[in-house]
Amino acid sequence: RIPEPCALVIFGVTGDLARKKLIPAVYDLANRGLLPPGFVVLGFARRDWGDGDFETIAKAAAQKHARTPWSEDVWSRVHGNIMFVPGSFEDDTAFDQLAQTLDDLHKTHGIPGNAAFYLSIPPSAFPIVLKQLGRTGMADNKRSGGWRRVIVEKPFGNDQESAKQLDALVDDVFTPRDVFRIDHYLGKETVQNILALRFANTLFEPVWNSHHVDSVQITMAEDVGIGTRAAFYDSVGTARDVVQNHLMQLLALIAMEEPTSFSPNQIRAEKLKVLRAIAPPTDVAADSVRGQYLPGWVAGERVKGYLEEDNIPAGSTTETYVAIKLGIQNRRWAGVPFYVRAGKRLPRRVTEIAMLFKKAPHLPFDADDVEMLGNNQLVIRVQPDEGVVLKFGSKVPGTAMELRDIAMDFSYGEAFTDSSPEAYERLVLDVLIGDKTLFPDAAEVEASWAVIDPLEEAWAGTTPATYRSGEWGPRAADEMLGRDGRAWRRA
Ligand code: BG6
Repeated sequence: RIPEPCALVIFGVTGDLARKKLIPAVYDLANRGLLPPGFVVLGFARRDWGDGDFETIAKAAAQKHARTPWSEDVWSRVHGNIMFVPGSFEDDTAFDQLAQTLDDLHKTHGIPGNAAFYLSIPPSAFPIVLKQLGRTGMADNKRSGGWRRVIVEKPFGNDQESAKQLDALVDDVFTPRDVFRIDHYLGKETVQNILALRFANTLFEPVWNSHHVDSVQITMAEDVGIGTRAAFYDSVGTARDVVQNHLMQLLALIAMEEPTSFSPNQIRAEKLKVLRAIAPPTDVAADSVRGQYLPGWVAGERVKGYLEEDNIPAGSTTETYVAIKLGIQNRRWAGVPFYVRAGKRLPRRVTEIAMLFKKAPHLPFDADDVEMLGNNQLVIRVQPDEGVVLKFGSKVPGTAMELRDIAMDFSYGEAFTDSSPEAYERLVLDVLIGDKTLFPDAAEVEASWAVIDPLEEAWAGTTPATYRSGEWGPRAADEMLGRDGRAWRRA
């Protein structure tokens, strides 16, 4: 589907996200022929730029970061539709100017009032920008004559309370139907495939429960450090940065019941039920581990420790790694531990969900022959090397009855030739079309905070364990699973 003629207004257009993801997404959409003939990208920021300056920067960003091949021809269709309005968020005149520019798009570009506002800005700037959108009438569907939508980037609040306040603030200006909360993990092809894998097949669902599943491991490992985001990162830490949102969404998709239909409301209702059934650890000290990276080596390169990174306050106790053991209190999952972990400066970038199945109650083989046999595993590889792996025992060729685990491997790259859209490309298009299936609603966000809040409370004032950059997190994380007689999968 192609959206109606519309404008995408980006606040914070000089930031990393706009450069690396949003502008390239616009180029990719244009390249795939998915943008309407009347389409404008309108940047707003405190820079002394004209349309031409923004166009030059946008072009460089698209050339560097777009997923689809570069074509001057495609860009020539985009570049005449790139506009810039300079101003600070406090500047009433600049916002009046922006409102006027949007009104004029009807005449200049045949855009009948439709606009999406992307808040790619620090949460502290949300209130002022929302206020300006309200004051100028830019958020008003009726006044605009088309639709007006807002896209809110995470972190959505800092805890449940602040998320609720933010909801109230956004709902004051936009109608809830027009609010799109982004969790870019939901835009990933492999994440959407979780629902296909579970509900389009007959093979997996019968064993997707506590009778057959021993435990679940969700891993989001990154080899990068905090980069240039010290101020942001130090104020949030791993649990708020990625566990509250990305990992909770992965967990919800893996554990939810089958929706009665694929409508956004049905899917969200099922996700919400399971999020609300998550039990945070009762013994936080035993069932969670926080870590912070020390200097070390990653991919052959010497890297700094967290405390030596630029602009990190001395003695910061912010975590860059977290591992948590969660339970889900419903009939399907009672007693099955869900181990989730996420961290920076781990040996490599990999996000995966592993379902580990129970071992056979009895094996009719010699004990020596089954030493190399582990749990059957179904592993959904979210990234990189997107795919699904099934691990099971097999006979090693030879005269003896020796058994060992082998992997049956489905790889997206090999099975499909078309390149999948980048997550942001998919999600920006969905906003412009008005499809909310892949956007968490306020209730989901609040339910996820309800899992994280008690942990943050218990961690307050504690110092994270350390791990050397390039290692798989602190030793305490291995010990946590070790106490349960389990071990982390080698992701
Ligand atoms: C973001 C986090 O939401 O996700 C970053 O703020 C993290 O800290 C990033 O690096 C990872 O995204 P992806 O798509 O590369 O896994």
